[in-house]
Amino acid sequence: MPEQQSYLRFSQTRRIEHWTLVGSFAVLTATGIPQKFSQFRVSEWLLWLMGGLEVARILHRVAAVVLVLLTIYHFGTLIYYWYVERGSPHILPELSDARNAWEQVRFNLGISKEKPRQGLFTFEEKFEYWALIWGTFVMVLTGFFLWNPITATQFLSGEWIPAAKAAHGGEALLAVLSIILWHFYHVLIKHQNKSMFTGYLSAHEMAEEHPLALENQDYVAPTIETTDEEYLARRRKFAYGYGGAAFLLVLGVVWFVSVEQTAVAQPSVIPDLGRASGFTPLTPTPFPTLAAARFDAEKIGTTWENGIGDMFAASCGLCHQGQGSPGNLDLLTYSGALAGGDSGLAVVPNASGISLAVIWPQRQEHPGRLSPDQLNALRDWIEAGAPER
Ligand code: HEC
Repeated sequence: MPEQQSYLRFSQTRRIEHWTLVGSFAVLTATGIPQKFSQFRVSEWLLWLMGGLEVARILHRVAAVVLVLLTIYHFGTLIYYWYVERGSPHILPELSDARNAWEQVRFNLGISKEKPRQGLFTFEEKFEYWALIWGTFVMVLTGFFLWNPITATQFLSGEWIPAAKAAHGGEALLAVLSIILWHFYHVLIKHQNKSMFTGYLSAHEMAEEHPLALENQDYVAPTIETTDEEYLARRRKFAYGYGGAAFLLVLGVVWFVSVEQTAVAQPSVIPDLGRASGFTPLTPTPFPTLAAARFDAEKIGTTWENGIGDMFAASCGLCHQGQGSPGNLDLLTYSGALAGGDSGLAVVPNASGISLAVIWPQRQEHPGRLSPDQLNALRDWIEAGAPER
């Protein structure tokens, strides 16, 4: 039990608040910073330790919700303290804080021999407190944008989302560094302030750090006549007012975490990766060709004059007409077909196997085509000696 030699600094509920905040902050940091610096090996390793990126993302969201609920609770305690208990708001910044800061710098530099005499909360503590409030506001707002980008861009332009991401990561880094450099220095190194564990500050610490609070007895909790009618009325009003506001705020949190799934849904990473690779066809892309002219198989005929010549004219005559046509092959006349072109004989009577007119239409890179029926009729005609009539 503390003696008169120590002063209550943090009630048990305040200490629970603080350590809940520590827990939430630690999880947010551990899961958030490796995501911000994802290009580093150590981040990959940390995420792997947590059970992977997806687990880290879920933990980050859970810790964020804890932080938001804690903030709603904290504002409730402030309003209760100020409104119901009529406590004085020692945490508010005052002009004297700027003076104290100036004095402290002069003292640190050895210019002044006197340390500023500070009250219940020093300017360092106030600065940190309000930085936390401001930081939480920024993180919750930008966190909302990142969590619900589609909802956010119904009111704002799209560039707010990458801007929110930059602000979210930057503010996070600032918060982590200020906790490590500023907070840890002030409570762990400068003094070993155990009040967040025990709840109490020693008389020596009070005299050193908060002499004005000792003088003005600011450490004394507001005394309340619990039967006082006015106090009871204020308490009722608080219960209804804050109760209603807190209810709406919690509804807001539910909306916050459920309004959209965009950034929550987990893509199935591994199996889908294959689809992202370039399209590599197993067979070469076919060369564009003219479709084989439609010919009634029955009517192709068996001589040049009663059908074969017409078939060549319809399927090949577009290109192979007269001197100077592709390969110097003229397929519009019987003599032209038997003469062949640059590569050799197009029609070798009785030898369809070596007739180029049969071979070329089947070559991939040749644009002219014959249907299977037409090819058969052509082969039959050649095997029959390629008669003109
Ligand atoms: C769209 C135009 C086009 C059509 C239609 C066409 N060809 Fe060709 N053909 C060519 C081209 C181009 C060449 C190649 C010329 C070269 O490389 O010197 C060629 C070359 C040939 C050759 C080789 C000529 C040689 O001696 O070098 C034969 C045989 C041939 N075609 C047969 C046919 C037949 C039979 C048909 C009808 C089924 C046909 N072609 C339809 C464009 C056509």
